[in-house]
Amino acid sequence: MNGDGIGDLAGIRSHLEYLHDLGVDAIWLSPWYPSPMADAGYDVADYRDIDPVFGTLAEAEALIAEAHAVGIRTIVDIVPNHTSTAHVWFAEALAGGPMRDRFYFRAGRDGRPPNNWESIFGGPAWTQVADDQWYLHLFDSGQPDLNWDHPAVRAEFDDILRFWFDRGVDGIRIDSAAMVAKDPALPDFDPLMPPDPHPWIDREALHELYRGWRRIADSYHPSRALIGEVWLPDPQRFVRYLRPDELHTAFNFDFLGCPWDAKALRRCIDETLTTHAAVGAPATWVLSNHDVTRHVTRYGRTDTGFSHDLRQARHQLPTDLALGTRRARAAALLTLALPGSVYVYQGEELGLPEVEDIAAADRQDPIFLRSAGTDPGRDGCRVPLPWSGSAPPYGFGGTGWLPQPDDWAERTVATQIADDQSMLNLYRRALRLRRALPGLGDGPSEWQDSADDVLAFDRPHGFTCVVNLSARPVAVPAGTVLIASTPIIDGVLPPDAAVWVSTAL
Ligand code: NOJ
Repeated sequence: MNGDGIGDLAGIRSHLEYLHDLGVDAIWLSPWYPSPMADAGYDVADYRDIDPVFGTLAEAEALIAEAHAVGIRTIVDIVPNHTSTAHVWFAEALAGGPMRDRFYFRAGRDGRPPNNWESIFGGPAWTQVADDQWYLHLFDSGQPDLNWDHPAVRAEFDDILRFWFDRGVDGIRIDSAAMVAKDPALPDFDPLMPPDPHPWIDREALHELYRGWRRIADSYHPSRALIGEVWLPDPQRFVRYLRPDELHTAFNFDFLGCPWDAKALRRCIDETLTTHAAVGAPATWVLSNHDVTRHVTRYGRTDTGFSHDLRQARHQLPTDLALGTRRARAAALLTLALPGSVYVYQGEELGLPEVEDIAAADRQDPIFLRSAGTDPGRDGCRVPLPWSGSAPPYGFGGTGWLPQPDDWAERTVATQIADDQSMLNLYRRALRLRRALPGLGDGPSEWQDSADDVLAFDRPHGFTCVVNLSARPVAVPAGTVLIASTPIIDGVLPPDAAVWVSTAL
């Protein structure tokens, strides 16, 4: 908004109407706190303030209130696994003394790190300080891990939660939620060990921690939500975080990583619905986020799934963006027809592809920096949105903090609003219908008897969604077509397309 090329709170406030017209119920803001930005703000120096590059605390309060006024709730991102090295606790800890106990400071082993753990961003998970001790950081060296066995850490975050709930936020997204507790012995990691207990993932102590957080959220209002970023391969263990007295909901990364394949999607949807029903939690549907390759790009490749391990191997593989876009349109209708909550990552509603040709000098992600440039990291999905105009910065204001491509004129909000067939208008229409049709966001879902490579399911009140993942056209069921991802001609749904049909209207 202020023209410095970095999104800010004033910019969001001036675009609340856009969000309202899009049809969202809530906005989730990635960390907005004072930060040296070693990891795009996920290195927090002060959990109770706003980084000046984004605005002020007063502006955050105004944003929360103004969003409420147009029916939009606000979700803030809390980062409990680590602080920033610029946090006052860490500065004090560096000087020595008891503050070190709030982090993991340890002596090395013969000049080497205290154990063999590796940073998720690449390189060792330990950095040595001036007096030769080492501190643990599962992510960047600018993100020292907090010791959650320390009562002061627990008390601090209870207070931080209250601080934001007191300011009217409706939900809290918990960063790296399954990694926060550690085996206090910090044993070497043995990849051949059984996964449970893992020394830093999915430890039992987390459940008691999140029960405490749930009590805090509930003490405000039953509608205040805790949303976990829980990456766990085992869905049974995943939903343990969603038991009635723990988190309300968590991002469905199995679905996000699932390839564009009917059988795989059906299996994932079934598993999601069954496991969530067992704990009484709503399912979530996620196609993209700020950590993964945008799905327009993924779906345009031979290998359409996502996994962090394969990001590097799949970078810049041949991509058919027209095909990816077609599938992304169908995927939007698939997710919005399923029971549960849907998370739309900014720019997904514009059909933005991954920007894969960002110059090394412009890249900011610590993954890129820590892998000496071998892993492209996540900058390609974080490029600022194009609002209007025919050249960068497309109305964003200033030179974007990550460079925008020269060929995004067709993807701007202004262009897409004017184009009835655009991705933006597809999202807007589908979100409006989802809100208007009774029982769509919640309630049962029944598969129809369809071919293996077609997903067809019924929802309450005569609603049917058909997604054609086969290579041949399929018949659109009888009824009124509510919306389709591609024009329906002669009652036929082409490959890589989806349709919503109602027999009640
Ligand atoms: C998960 C966040 O989504 C990601 O962006 C961040 O780098 C890590 N947690 C570390 O905070």
